[in-house]
Parts: sequence; C-alpha cells; structure tokens
Amino acid sequence: MNDNKKIAVITGANRGLGLETCRQLASQGVSVILTSRDPSKGKEAASLLQSEGLEVASHPLDVTRSESIQQLQQYLRQEFGRLDVLVNNAGVLKDSRDPVEASIFNTKIDALRTTLETNLYAPLLLCQALIPLMKKGDYGRVVNVSSSLGQLSEMSAGYPTYRISKTALNAVTGLLAAELQGTNILVNSACPGWVKTDMGGPDAPADPKEGVKTIVWLATLPDGGPTGGFFRDQQPIAW
Ligand SMILES: NC(=O)c1ccc[n+]([C@@H]2O[C@H](COP(=O)([O-])OP(=O)(O)OC[C@H]3O[C@@H](n4cnc5c(N)ncnc54)[C@H](OP(=O)(O)O)[C@@H]3O)[C@@H](O)[C@H]2O)c1
Repeated sequence: MNDNKKIAVITGANRGLGLETCRQLASQGVSVILTSRDPSKGKEAASLLQSEGLEVASHPLDVTRSESIQQLQQYLRQEFGRLDVLVNNAGVLKDSRDPVEASIFNTKIDALRTTLETNLYAPLLLCQALIPLMKKGDYGRVVNVSSSLGQLSEMSAGYPTYRISKTALNAVTGLLAAELQGTNILVNSACPGWVKTDMGGPDAPADPKEGVKTIVWLATLPDGGPTGGFFRDQQPIAW
C-alpha cells in the first residue's frame, strides 16, 4: 500500500452500512481494511470492491472476541506501524418489535449484556487497542456509529437494549474526545438515519449510499475539525 494513503479499519463491513463506508472511503483514496467476523464473507465483500477498482483488503474481526481484536492490532502494527481511521460500525439490534416483550420492565439482563458486548464493549476495546496506533502518526479519526434511538433528549419506549447501548456508546465518544483534547485524534458519534439494510429493513427511506455520508465525512475530517460530537446529516444533534 502507498505510504501516503490514509489507512482505515471498518468493523462489521461485509454488508450494509459498513460495506458502503468501505466503498466510499476507498473511492476517496483511503486504503481500506474491511473487517468481518466471517472471513469468507469479508473476502467476498473485499473482492466485490476490488472488482470496482478500489484498494480494499480484508481481515477477520469478531468484535466481541478480545483475541480477535489483539490479532488485528498486531497485523496493523506489523504491516503499517500505524492506523489513521477507525469506524466502529458493527452493531446488533436484538430487541423484539412486540411492545410487551420490548418493555423496559421485561428487559432481560442477559439480552442487555449480549447487546452491550457488540455495541458498547467492542468499540471501547477497539479504541483502547487501536488509538495508540493513531498516536504514532499524530493523526486519527474515530467514528462510533450510533443512533438517534440513543439520544437521551429524545428517549422514548421500545428497543431498550439497543437504545441503552447507543446512549452508552455516545458516552464513550465523549470520554475519549475529552482525554484526546489537544491531539489530532478526533472522535465523534454518527447517526446514519433510518437506512435500508438487514437491520433497517426494506421500509427505511434512505439507501446505504446516502446513509454513510455523515460517517464518511467524520472519517475524513480536516485537522481542527469537530471532536466529541454527535452528528446526523453532517449537523450536530443533541445527546
Ligand atoms: N440501518 C439503520 O437504519 C441504522 C440506523 C441507525 C444506526 N445504525 C447502525 O449502523 C451500524 C451498521 O448497521 P447496518 O444497518 O449496516 O446493519 P446490518 O446490515 O445488520 O450489518 C451489521 C454488521 O455488523 C456485523 N456484526 C455484528 N456483530 C458482529 C461481531 N460480533 N463482530 C463483527 N461484526 C459483527 C454484521 O456481521 P454479520 O454479517 O457477520 O452478522 C454486519 O456486517 C450499526 O452499528 C447500527 O446500529 C443503523
């Protein structure tokens, strides 16, 4: 890979918003490492983008397995000695659509724990493992893919484990940004809007191409850009 190119890792990138984020970042000249928990799905997705003329490599990553995170860190350290962009995109939405089952009064702690493993602990562990590689290059852009369902100011009933996970993910964004003040590492949360993917379903109004705009913008912010914010449609939104 060309040394002058930015190097980006995108999690959960074999489909949906992660795959489209890889496509758009690679189209802008970023060297993309498309990660996927199923290595064969990751290879297939990377081949698709390579067939479009884009520079994309794939690497296995199950975000809930700390050995897998360590292996990715080691690969990045050995291959490039640094990392420029991390998009924490992998996510799950496991809440029932049934209003009784999805009541906060009926939320099972095991279900909450499972969701937090992917949507909260994994992005935190990835930041802990990979931001040191950004410090080496004095450059970093971290995008935590969150959701307006996690906005405390708009909190409503339904999707309890998902909402809690995204609210807490936003806290991680704020904490990281606060400790990284004065560095060239910018950390922000993005809400993609409601997007047609396996998670968003077929009735969503936006397609992934539109949905990743804010993610890609935050992943390529110029020096001095915003940090510690929550954005949708490239505009700040309330926590
Ligand atoms: N679509 C929307 O309307 C919407 C709205 C707001 C926020 N978001 C957020 O956007 C992000 C992407 O969602 P999406 O709509 O693209 O959903 P999606 O189509 O369901 O894709 C989710 C991706 O996450 C991966 N993933 C899940 N658990 C993983 C794990 N343990 N390790 C590695 N990868 C894992 C999945 O991999 P597998 O294929 O292996 O399962 C898949 O690649 C999520 O964080 C979601 O919360 C989506």
